[in-house]
Amino acid sequence: MKKIELKNVSKIYNGTVKALNNVSFSINQGEFIAVMGQSGSGKSTFLQIAGLLDKCTSGEIIINGENVSSFDNNKLANVRMKTLGFVFQAFHLNRHLRLYENIMVPMLINNEYKTKADMENKAQELIELVGLSHRKKHYPGQLSGGEQQRVAIARALANNPDFILADEPTGNLDSENELMIFEELRKLADSGKGVLVVSHNDAVTQYADKIYIMKDGVLKEKNEE
Ligand SMILES: Nc1ncnc2c1ncn2[C@@H]1O[C@H](COP(=O)(O)OP(=O)(O)OP(=O)(O)O)[C@@H](O)[C@H]1O
Ligand SMILES: [Mg+2]
Repeated sequence: MKKIELKNVSKIYNGTVKALNNVSFSINQGEFIAVMGQSGSGKSTFLQIAGLLDKCTSGEIIINGENVSSFDNNKLANVRMKTLGFVFQAFHLNRHLRLYENIMVPMLINNEYKTKADMENKAQELIELVGLSHRKKHYPGQLSGGEQQRVAIARALANNPDFILADEPTGNLDSENELMIFEELRKLADSGKGVLVVSHNDAVTQYADKIYIMKDGVLKEKNEE
């Protein structure tokens, strides 16, 4: 069973700012979990630590049964590449690359893709998955925000991750587009990916299997409040 687990994780920035306070949490493959909470409550910190983008001050992170807490940066990058895909509020597409090329970027560091044709075939499959194959040669600036975020989701899938982690994925979108993004993420969970979304947006609650609330660095499941 694919799983991300956090055990008694705390994060203190600069020796003073306690951003996470003894957080224990797990997400399984096929689950869509939303973490909500006020600005400054620790949501992004939580996502970055669960996603191995930052280190915790104390506690343990276990990914698919492997305790990665003592891994060096190279080993962490390798686990990230093979296991995790990220989606951010600001899309972060490269505006000089066509959409299918943007989707290929993470494949460049993955030696499982042997030829450029392998990468192009995978990019084609992923852009079809998010319903934009007719636009694949366009540049990000030619797309709406919602469409750009769908491309960013396709790119997050480039290396077949077990989990997708998204920080405010609808923060820059209008209400119609935000529902499309949550639907896309729901489909991924139904296809077997674990989906962890950090959001202010109440609409996410309709799509999530479980909702957690972050408050002053403390994480609680919503119905336990
Ligand atoms: N690099 C950093 N250095 C020092 N303090 C930080 C750093 N990053 C975050 N913090 C602090 O940690 C706390 C949690 O921040 P975090 O960004 O995780 O909150 P958030 O819930 O994602 O907020 P928002 O909803 O506004 O994105 C805040 O008090 C913030 O000021
Ligand atoms: Mg944040």
